[in-house]
Amino acid sequence: MAMRAPSALIVLLLVGAFSSVIPYTRPPPRDTLFIGRADYESPTTPEQVHVSVVGQNQMRISWVTDDPASATVDYGTSSGTYTSSAMANTTSYSYESYQSGQIYDAVIGPLQPSTVYYYRCSGDSSLEFNFTTPPAQFPVNLVIIGDLGQTGWTQTTLQHIAASNYDMLLLPGDLSYADYDEPRWDSYGRLVEPLASQRPWMMTAGNHDVEKKVPPAPFTAYNARWRMPFEQSGSDSNLFYSFNVAGVHVIMLCSYTAFDEDSDQYAWLQNDLQSVDRAATPWVFVLLHAPWYNSNYAHQGEEASVGMKQAMEGLVYQYSVDVVFAGHVHAYERFTRVYNGEADNCGPVYITIGDGGNREGLATDYMDPQPEISLFREASFGHGELDIFNGTTAFWTWHRNDDDESVVADSVWLTTLASNPNCSSS
Ligand SMILES: *[C@@H]1O[C@H](CO)[C@@H](O)[C@H](O)[C@H]1NC(C)=O
Ligand SMILES: *[C@@H]1O[C@H](CO)[C@@H](O)[C@H](O)[C@H]1NC(C)=O
Ligand SMILES: *[C@@H]1O[C@H](CO)[C@@H](O)[C@H](O)[C@H]1NC(C)=O
Ligand SMILES: *[C@@H]1O[C@H](CO)[C@@H](O)[C@H](O)[C@H]1NC(C)=O
Ligand SMILES: [Fe+2]
Repeated sequence: MAMRAPSALIVLLLVGAFSSVIPYTRPPPRDTLFIGRADYESPTTPEQVHVSVVGQNQMRISWVTDDPASATVDYGTSSGTYTSSAMANTTSYSYESYQSGQIYDAVIGPLQPSTVYYYRCSGDSSLEFNFTTPPAQFPVNLVIIGDLGQTGWTQTTLQHIAASNYDMLLLPGDLSYADYDEPRWDSYGRLVEPLASQRPWMMTAGNHDVEKKVPPAPFTAYNARWRMPFEQSGSDSNLFYSFNVAGVHVIMLCSYTAFDEDSDQYAWLQNDLQSVDRAATPWVFVLLHAPWYNSNYAHQGEEASVGMKQAMEGLVYQYSVDVVFAGHVHAYERFTRVYNGEADNCGPVYITIGDGGNREGLATDYMDPQPEISLFREASFGHGELDIFNGTTAFWTWHRNDDDESVVADSVWLTTLASNPNCSSS
């Protein structure tokens, strides 16, 4: 017995020493799902229902019917009792032999914060939906997930998100991986409806959201189906916009439309950053698809990353953006605060969260050695959660999808740059 205790101790010490080498076998991609129309649906049944915020007290409700139906949404704060209604705008598009259904979007409000609203679309009383409006003040809990796709991994990532009691979801590009197979946009809309009809989902586009074969109208499906509140932030493009939620200013940028200093996007960003009121929104986040900082071999040297960083990093630094979230690389990576390639206490934290569950699989090859500015990196599927407590403090967690279990594998406390007297925004 005298010998056993020390050897057990040695085993424990060895396990401890090697536990930073994560004993998790990286899984292969899973098959793409195809979610078809449900048996109960008639040609005028609303489907692919999702909601997004429009300003501080309005929401947009978007849905699709196969054949044109009533362009109305009815809503109220009690189930089955709809005290208000709104008219939707409608659109549709065709692409090669594909003809979309009727796509609706209606803006409703004014609405109360942190309140459940019940609604029905196209007058269909057999299908009642509900959403919860975001809080007007802290705390606010965000889910952030890129490159979501629609595979078996996506499905369990969505289950993890559903269990997290979040207020809003932010998606930095690559939604459906339709890749110009248009029915996959419909499938994706059905897959995410249970979540996206209940909480605002706010997004920006990625390279897989392009209809590459039609260069003059490259985001046709994305723009028709996922309309975001761009007019309200002075943008004239659905591809870049901003909004406030509680005390957070969120800026969505597009890596695949012009970003140089002469571009509309650049001028808009400069104006938007200038007009942020840090007293009202101490947190400022940017989301975009192609990461500016990335120590994975995947997607190195692309113009969407390198060119955009060169054009815009100065602005993002000058106006003390707190965090830049990106996708594109199918893995998770968290950097320290960075400016111009160097650690800088007044620069943004850079986070790559392109690990939602796409069909292409994980980006497993990392540059060696790990750059000092890269603090954590792992090629696994998963999602991020940001719990923002107040105007100074937030807690970020990265949840690995660990063979379908949600496991927190990285976390960090974040503090606003606005509360740091050494940085220009304070
Ligand atoms: C519907 O279209 C009109 C005209 O373009 C526009 O003024 C209005 O804001 C749109 N409504 C919604 C809900 O987008
Ligand atoms: C909202 O709708 C979902 C899905 O139908 C349902 O599970 C949930 O109970 C509803 N929430 C409320 C507060 O009624
Ligand atoms: C902000 O929240 C954090 C975490 O709960 C807390 O420690 C801190 O005291 C709060 N700060 C302010 C200014 O309320
Ligand atoms: C601000 O700069 C001073 C001097 O370099 C340093 O001691 C202090 O820790 C800095 N404060 C913060 C919040 O980083
Ligand atoms: Fe991508």
